[in-house]
Amino acid sequence: MKSLVLLCLAVFLAVYLQESYQAPPEKNCRQVAAQFTKRQIQGISQCTKSMKFKNGKEKSKKMNCILRCVMIRENLLGGDGQVTQEIYNRFVEAEFPGALMERFNGTFWSCMQIAFSGFKTLEEDEFCLTYDPFIKCMMGNVPGLCNWT
Ligand SMILES: *[C@@H]1O[C@H](CO)[C@@H](O)[C@H](O)[C@H]1NC(C)=O
Repeated sequence: MKSLVLLCLAVFLAVYLQESYQAPPEKNCRQVAAQFTKRQIQGISQCTKSMKFKNGKEKSKKMNCILRCVMIRENLLGGDGQVTQEIYNRFVEAEFPGALMERFNGTFWSCMQIAFSGFKTLEEDEFCLTYDPFIKCMMGNVPGLCNWT
């Protein structure tokens, strides 16, 4: 009987401590991620407008260029569409303060290696195809951002 009480107490404590330890950062992560996502969606519509596509076909062929524009606006990429470690560090520090920085970096660092190796310019790559592996990698890792335990 005594051991049962102790067991219950232990389980309660474990759950309680874990909740109080994990709940705030989890919520924080989701809030920050939600705000971030909202900004990306606004960015997509603003970039789409500013790029003045002739028709829907051109727009869909240049989807990667729209996302390139959004990432430049967000300062994840420099104005020339390239990213250095320095640009990336500044972006992460500004957007993902504190504990979220490690989370973000842990989630996307492997994708950044693709980006650091460089992209072709718009003149060389009209449809921004060189951005494809990077964009796919980033999108594929988004679900992992706030699900860490
Ligand atoms: C991201 O993680 C890598 C590898 O662990 C590390 O070298 C780099 O300094 C980190 N960057 C930031 C901004 O935390």
